[in-house]
Amino acid sequence: MHTRSLGTTGPQVSALGLGCMGMSALYGDADRAESIATLHAALEAGVTLLDTGDFYGMGHNEMLIGEALRAAPPARREQALISVKFGALRDPDGNWSGYDGRPAAVKNFAAYSLQRLGVDHIDVYRIARLDPDVPIEETVGAIAELVEKGHVRHIGLSEVGEETIRRAAATAPISDLQIEYSLITRGIEDRILPTTRELGIAITAYGVLSRGLISGHFHRDRQLAPNDFRAHSPRFQGENLQRNLDLVDALRKIAEQKGATVAQIAIAWVLSRGEDIVPLIGARTRERLAESLGALDVTLDEADLAAIEQAVPADAVAGERYPAAQMAHLDSER
Ligand SMILES: NC(=O)c1ccc[n+]([C@@H]2O[C@H](COP(=O)([O-])OP(=O)(O)OC[C@H]3O[C@@H](n4cnc5c(N)ncnc54)[C@H](OP(=O)(O)O)[C@@H]3O)[C@@H](O)[C@H]2O)c1
Repeated sequence: MHTRSLGTTGPQVSALGLGCMGMSALYGDADRAESIATLHAALEAGVTLLDTGDFYGMGHNEMLIGEALRAAPPARREQALISVKFGALRDPDGNWSGYDGRPAAVKNFAAYSLQRLGVDHIDVYRIARLDPDVPIEETVGAIAELVEKGHVRHIGLSEVGEETIRRAAATAPISDLQIEYSLITRGIEDRILPTTRELGIAITAYGVLSRGLISGHFHRDRQLAPNDFRAHSPRFQGENLQRNLDLVDALRKIAEQKGATVAQIAIAWVLSRGEDIVPLIGARTRERLAESLGALDVTLDEADLAAIEQAVPADAVAGERYPAAQMAHLDSER
């Protein structure tokens, strides 16, 4: 497995990380045994970075990872680097009710995560969204105290913009910014990516397949459960969905010429954007994992990149990446 560095201060991690969210939440039901088998297969293949959030299934995702790690051979367990997001507030019905980045809350969230994961430290810890009521210096400062005490190793950021990145980096060393980046989600290229590069901060990219939309497996007539994020995502609705799937058809022609799948081309494209970018793969079955890891063997030369750019121009997507209420929480979109 190739490795990449999480910024100038973070650890070396596998070039592809495994994002575990879909194993517990947001994309409809997942199969628990298959999720654990997928985690084991990822570790076996050399994946070291596992990404989760304490709010993914209200603790379910962390407990799942903890269970998988306990059942893994010691060498595999020890290679795992766990990245945890915190701060999102839920209610028992699963509703979202804001973010909490107060220092006391940060330490409380961390204490519970360590228990659920069954580990003695968290490798990268980050607030999922900026809490507008708490200066980022206070939130990052609280994580820095957790680093001093050995409960956390590195500090990350998620979905924040240039100014917040600079303020955070002036407070403590930041390993990586987790943010959406894909062939059809290019928003970070203008200001955010130059800022992280200037400051030696890596990108852990999520939504590399735009939540399955550009995976090549998504069909127009797919029925989505009401609690599936995609049932409410602007990109998956009506005419937008049709236009976006037309882009996938254009990409499929390139994939076929390369002897690769659409998902592999989409992942390889993100990998090609720079050594400082680590795509998080949202696979929750061994089959999808194997497909995603195959992207590491796809080399895109200048002609391939030009053909991809022509098939899927930077601004071609139809629809915002989140519903309006969730867009409002994105410091990265200000
Ligand atoms: N910081 C943040 O704000 C934030 C937000 C979202 C996610 N994340 C993190 O990033 C991770 C990845 O995000 P994501 O799940 O949205 O990524 P994604 O890779 O864009 O989407 C995953 C979806 O793609 C589908 N898919 C189709 N082919 C696939 C293949 N070969 N490999 C993997 N998935 C395939 C999956 O399918 P099926 O439906 O068939 O399973 C799943 O529904 C998450 O697990 C989470 O850890 C962070």
